[in-house]
Amino acid sequence: AQAEKNGFAHFMLKEIHEQPRALRDTLKGRLAGDDSAVVLKELEIDDGKLRSLRKIFITACGTAYHAGLVGKYVIEQLARVPVEVDIASEFRYRQPLIDEGTLVIVISQSGETADTLAALREARRLGAPVLAVTNVVDSSIAREADHVLYTWAGPEIAVASTKAYTTQLVAMYLIALHLAAVRGTMTVEERQAIIRELKQLDSRAELILGNGHVIKDLARIYGRAEDVFFIGRGLDHAVALEGSLKLKEISYIHAEAYAAGELKHGTLALIEKGVPVVALATQKNLFEKTLSNIKEVKAREATVIALAMEGQKELEKVADHVLYIPPTNPVLAPVLAVIPLQLLAYQMAVVRGCDVDQPRNLAKSVTVE
Ligand code: G6P
Repeated sequence: AQAEKNGFAHFMLKEIHEQPRALRDTLKGRLAGDDSAVVLKELEIDDGKLRSLRKIFITACGTAYHAGLVGKYVIEQLARVPVEVDIASEFRYRQPLIDEGTLVIVISQSGETADTLAALREARRLGAPVLAVTNVVDSSIAREADHVLYTWAGPEIAVASTKAYTTQLVAMYLIALHLAAVRGTMTVEERQAIIRELKQLDSRAELILGNGHVIKDLARIYGRAEDVFFIGRGLDHAVALEGSLKLKEISYIHAEAYAAGELKHGTLALIEKGVPVVALATQKNLFEKTLSNIKEVKAREATVIALAMEGQKELEKVADHVLYIPPTNPVLAPVLAVIPLQLLAYQMAVVRGCDVDQPRNLAKSVTVE
């Protein structure tokens, strides 16, 4: 097994480091030569149908659900179609209002999650076309969906999902860009600008991974924390949820994610001296708002680990630590922002002596309800 880990101590760490390659592979063959468009041969839904779509539902479990939350923001922002995201175990029992005018997107790394498969069947029964985003060729979900967009993360062994998540995000961008082109909500130049940034995510991820030692030091300082809070607005909120899930899954630290603006409606009561708060502030248009939330928790003597794009020096005056990601289009920031959070969860779990690849009570693929 040591050989399969390629010199890494755990599968999770190996898979975190495989992300630049996984991102590249998931984009490969899906971009037009001049970067003006995405080419999704898999999505054989005719343009007329995509133009008349009234709504998109995204349904999934766990980390894949968190990828769906990013998908909602991105599809709504770029393609201007209303998107609803639902946990598969909720969707399947709540008589969702869907019909032929709805596209249902199911996301599943394994393609075998029982609730997601049941949600897919329910959507098809109600007459909606289903597009599956999955990492496993010929999985149950791939076979039963009307259309399949594969993520090419390669086999994911660690229970905590990492490279599957970032490639699911790429799939969301590809779908959003395709819809935007068909529906005429973005100009060629706007699409090109995002596609060119998309192609650079691999090298930017590489830069973050090269700085991993910074996070190891943080884990040594905060590895004994009992609670950690994650806050962020917009896309940063979606990533905060994923960061918090990673941490609790493998380190067993109580972790919660909140929309930063919602803090004062309850969670702020839990913030006291020395409680670590991971504050995501990668979204330019929301930066000042998040900064004021950081000040709010600092005023209660929390310890703040901020995460932002390079250049936001202002944070250093307020936060205890600042982690930087290379600048990119804010819409794409989740792919980069999650990497330090994956590493933080990993290093904290190692400090605590946890079984990183096989956390207690959890399974890689939940094939029973
Ligand atoms: C389990 C795994 C998670 C995963 C979720 C959904 O809970 O431990 O890592 O996100 O299932 O799995 P799927 O294969 O459908 O993406």
